[in-house]
Amino acid sequence: MSGTSLTRPIWPHPTREGVVQVIDQRLLPHTLKILDLHTVEDAIEAIRTLTVRGAPLIGASAAWAMYLAACTAPEGGITDAWMEDCCERIKAARPTAVNLAWAADLLMEKVRLTPANENRIQAMYAEAAMITDAEASRCQAIGEHGLCLIRSIYDKRPQKPVHILTHCNAGWLACVEYGTATAPIYAAHRAGIPVHVWVDETRPLNQGARLTAWELGQAGVPHTVIADNTGGHLMQRGEVDMVIVGTDRTTYTGDVANKIGTYLKALAAKDNNVPFYVALPSSTIDWKMKTGAEIPIETRNPDEVRYVQGKDGDGKIQRVLVPPEDSPALDFAFDVTPARLVTGLITEKGVCSASEEGIRSLFPSL
Ligand code: MRU
Repeated sequence: MSGTSLTRPIWPHPTREGVVQVIDQRLLPHTLKILDLHTVEDAIEAIRTLTVRGAPLIGASAAWAMYLAACTAPEGGITDAWMEDCCERIKAARPTAVNLAWAADLLMEKVRLTPANENRIQAMYAEAAMITDAEASRCQAIGEHGLCLIRSIYDKRPQKPVHILTHCNAGWLACVEYGTATAPIYAAHRAGIPVHVWVDETRPLNQGARLTAWELGQAGVPHTVIADNTGGHLMQRGEVDMVIVGTDRTTYTGDVANKIGTYLKALAAKDNNVPFYVALPSSTIDWKMKTGAEIPIETRNPDEVRYVQGKDGDGKIQRVLVPPEDSPALDFAFDVTPARLVTGLITEKGVCSASEEGIRSLFPSL
């Protein structure tokens, strides 16, 4: 597929009020399709089906869903009751990424502050645009802080590229712009530091092989796709300098929920003394949740495990069954990496330890 000049996965339609446009991430990397969302149900469906995905983008999508809710309110007007009902339905779309409820609740707060009907559409639009832009700025800042970590590895042995392993897709597709885990990588690449990324394919839905590889390729960043089981072996051979992953929810004590398989990478990193960093905007911190055991872990349709999708020799997208017809499958979407396995959190405010003390040192007022 040819190059794209897009840098965001969601935006309001430039000329049509009440329409939000998104990249359909289910079809990448082989097809770049833009979808129009017209209703709150369209937006909920897009979140549920992973048409839009990744914690910060799920948050931004929830915000735009509230805008669509205001635009499509029934006869009685944009009442609190209608918006509250939409807000609850949006929040139920997926359970793990905390950004979803965070953003929907912020918009609901804005509804309550805006007198009934009066300017509620404009208020929702402005708030959704603000949340989207703020996530992009947070990701840009994460890039600058993470760049320092990559630079310090490079400066110690400048004769070879810095090899970074990442899991899933925590790039601009997942995060509105720049990405979280990828922001430091893009910043290092732009700064002329040679980097090479090991991209975990990330079964079952292959967000790494499909999305991260596509993003990095578009940006000209050297990378290699590996099967999910390869990371530990590469670490034992000294071929991974650091791991950077994203997160869907981080407790205020530093436990990290991220795409299934992240925990195993953290264990392998610990055993091999490879630094394991988690990059996140503050919108992904759950200030009410103490331990990772409390994080709701999404289970999805086992067909995501049983089938794989890709392009065949004739250029057609095909979905094929891998295991025997009647073998049952189980599809957990996320796992929890305990704080003790995390070297540091890279946030928009700087890098801190994965601990309550570390997090509160950067975000004293939250
Ligand atoms: O199920 P997804 O695709 O929405 O999962 C989200 C992710 O891509 C990751 O877990 C990611 O690393 C954190 S979101 C920036």
